[in-house]
Amino acid sequence: MGVRIAGTGSAVPERRLTNDDLSRMVETSDEWIVQRTGIRERRVCDPSREGTFTLNRDALRRALEAAGMQGSDLDLVIVGTCTQEMSCPSVACRIAGELGVTPGGAFDVVAACSGFVYAMNVADSLIRSGRFRSIGVCGGDAMSTIIDYQERSVSILFGDAAGAAVLVADPDPRRGCIHQQLGSDGRDWTPLYIPRRLQEVPEADRDNPIRMGNLRMNGREVFKFAVSRFRQVIEDALQATQLTPADLSQVICHQSNIRIIESAIEKVGLPPEKVYINIDRFGNSSAGSVGLCLDQLWRAGKVPAGKPMMMVAFGGGMTWASSVWTV
Ligand code: UT7
Repeated sequence: MGVRIAGTGSAVPERRLTNDDLSRMVETSDEWIVQRTGIRERRVCDPSREGTFTLNRDALRRALEAAGMQGSDLDLVIVGTCTQEMSCPSVACRIAGELGVTPGGAFDVVAACSGFVYAMNVADSLIRSGRFRSIGVCGGDAMSTIIDYQERSVSILFGDAAGAAVLVADPDPRRGCIHQQLGSDGRDWTPLYIPRRLQEVPEADRDNPIRMGNLRMNGREVFKFAVSRFRQVIEDALQATQLTPADLSQVICHQSNIRIIESAIEKVGLPPEKVYINIDRFGNSSAGSVGLCLDQLWRAGKVPAGKPMMMVAFGGGMTWASSVWTV
């Protein structure tokens, strides 16, 4: 049994938060942010009508439209996110309920920025098992709901977005995910976490002015982790599939920071024209980033059938994931 991407979709809020807007809120500048991150603006939700649920729902609705399918055609919805409005029900359950997937299954995957790639890998495996025929996969975060905008170390980086793909069973077993890796190292999760209670906060971080429920990040530590992990994960995937960068149509990297992506391009020898970048316009949208890139590339006809493409992400947990697909 193979797996086909029948359609993709994405959703971003209308409201733009530019670097100049941020420089009026904290001590920073457009020049610093562009140089250190590659970001010029990001999208942020209007909390009165948008959030993680609406972004992921709209992304999946568009993916279904692109596939010419309806919610009732899906057996399961999986949403990668770490900004759920409620811990229960899951975002996936609410989407399934609204889009008519009932009584199909629904669950969220929490792997921070790796969420979409985690969800794609799980969905591919479930369809290959023969137990599911069609799965709606979403990845999306409303990071603006967990960002302290007084803190320049986090506020400049993140934006809100969601991406989605509808996966269906295909008789050609060569189609779908041909290599996947799901990884984690929870021995030290402190570089990036979202605490709810003081009990979980490490002693050394108890004075942190960032409120409970908001994201805390040691940017330098995450940066070091990301640079080495990206390289390793991409090299592992190339080795396992016996592919070279020239064989791939696209390498879709989590839009974490332009310098992290550029280091992967340089260290692994990826052709820059095959590494899509939209961080300048959307910032780092956590679990939204890879799915948003996939949808933009898909609609532009840049993920051709028959040629492999790779998706790769890392995030809090710490987590990482890769997924090589023949579409
Ligand atoms: O998706 C996964 C989640 N996270 C990531 O991928 C984040 C990975 N890390 C990063 O992207 C970068 O570490 C940041 C963009 C967060 C920070 O960039 P950096 O180059 O690592 O800066 P830094 O933290 O080492 O700070 C350098 C200097 C410091 O000043 P001094 O000590 O050299 O005087 C900071 O206080 O820049 C200062 N600084 C700022 N200045 C203006 C830190 N943030 C800002 C800011 N505006 N927003």
